[in-house]
Amino acid sequence: MEEKKLRIGLVGTSSRCHSLHESYHLHPQYEVVAACDTALHKAEDFLETFKTITGGKTYKPYSCYEEMVKNEKLDAVLITCDPDVQVDIAVDAMHRGIHVMTEVPAAFSIEQCEKLVDAVEQTGCKYQMQEQTRYWKFIRDWREMAARGEFGKIIYAEGEYLHFEPAWDAFMDRKTGYREWTSDPSYYANPNYVPSWRGRCFRNPIFYLPHTLSPLLSITGGRITKVSCMGVKADSYGTPGMAYRDIQNALMYNSDDIVFSVRAGFTSPYGQKAQTGAHWYQVKGTQRSVEWARSTIDTPKMYTPVPGTHDGEWKAMDWTCADPEAEAFIREGYHGGADYYPLMHFIDAINHDTTPPMDVYTAVETAAPAILAAQSCEQGGVLLEVPDFRNRGKKA
Ligand SMILES: NC(=O)c1ccc[n+]([C@@H]2O[C@H](COP(=O)([O-])OP(=O)(O)OC[C@H]3O[C@@H](n4cnc5c(N)ncnc54)[C@H](O)[C@@H]3O)[C@@H](O)[C@H]2O)c1
Repeated sequence: MEEKKLRIGLVGTSSRCHSLHESYHLHPQYEVVAACDTALHKAEDFLETFKTITGGKTYKPYSCYEEMVKNEKLDAVLITCDPDVQVDIAVDAMHRGIHVMTEVPAAFSIEQCEKLVDAVEQTGCKYQMQEQTRYWKFIRDWREMAARGEFGKIIYAEGEYLHFEPAWDAFMDRKTGYREWTSDPSYYANPNYVPSWRGRCFRNPIFYLPHTLSPLLSITGGRITKVSCMGVKADSYGTPGMAYRDIQNALMYNSDDIVFSVRAGFTSPYGQKAQTGAHWYQVKGTQRSVEWARSTIDTPKMYTPVPGTHDGEWKAMDWTCADPEAEAFIREGYHGGADYYPLMHFIDAINHDTTPPMDVYTAVETAAPAILAAQSCEQGGVLLEVPDFRNRGKKA
């Protein structure tokens, strides 16, 4: 039996929304019926582009989310607006009976994490965070190796998201909502501009830790219970004059007795990696270690120790990001062929009343350590405890 199309509203129609839509519109149950952006012309631009993809069909653009949900009958909203305002929209939508996908990072305060969990528990709506790197083929391979016990006891997981751009969209035109891609610090004093969400968040780039924790925790299991973080000062060396920390590194501990080290930064030339660009990972177990390529002249590799000796073998591996067996539009999609998977799982969860893989608990279990890491760094690296959102109100 053919499954019904979902009536979808988009919130925030800038670059991320455009790139997702290129593969999402090929899902047979995905039907965009409205789009909104506080900068209305962006919603209009989006729908114009979309029209050419879908053969002339147009939908109403809105400048206001509330107006859109009042006027349109929606099954789901996909939120790709400023990440630090997305929780209020997500919570409101769920209380209207609308399923929700939000972007990574899911939340920017512990209070927002609580609100998101409350909304899902109270409404029963489907919520998913659209973090996609956990669907890279090599991450799936590592996850399957862990499930088969091939690592032995995992003791350490490490990763980084170090994404340098010479000029990020750090400022926003107050009137038009357009972002200015610049590294010119004189914009701080320009009354026509305010810092964009990136401009605000890059003081503590570790807020983007969820992008790295999502795939790592999908391999190790467990939840982060303790976090401490160090960073350089919030006065960029790589992009002089901008109030950014070029790097922050969180040291964490999880409920399965595993140590994690994860860093993030956006404003210094860190060096790209093969296939994954700005992302890198390693996992160490008692029987095996795996590591992604550290640079574009390196390869992914696996170490297998010889039991009872201090010897072992490093082997170059041909792991990939895209799944060679996936359909071409998925394989060739953005972010190494990973972008389509969150939507696929979200729609599947709605149609079959199942829990999506990146559900609200999994999402806040990546967001809360990031929030506390930023706090820890601001307080010189103090050790902070991460709340357990699955067992709220229960004593440990
Ligand atoms: N998963 C990934 O790999 C990935 C990659 C890029 C961006 N992202 C996430 O996607 C989101 C958007 O990123 P972007 O680069 O497109 O950002 P952007 O700043 O270019 O776009 C955000 C858009 O949201 C609009 N907006 C802001 N507040 C709004 C509101 N209340 N209602 C409706 N629209 C609103 C803005 O006008 C803007 O057009 C962010 O959460 C970001 O973290 C994720």
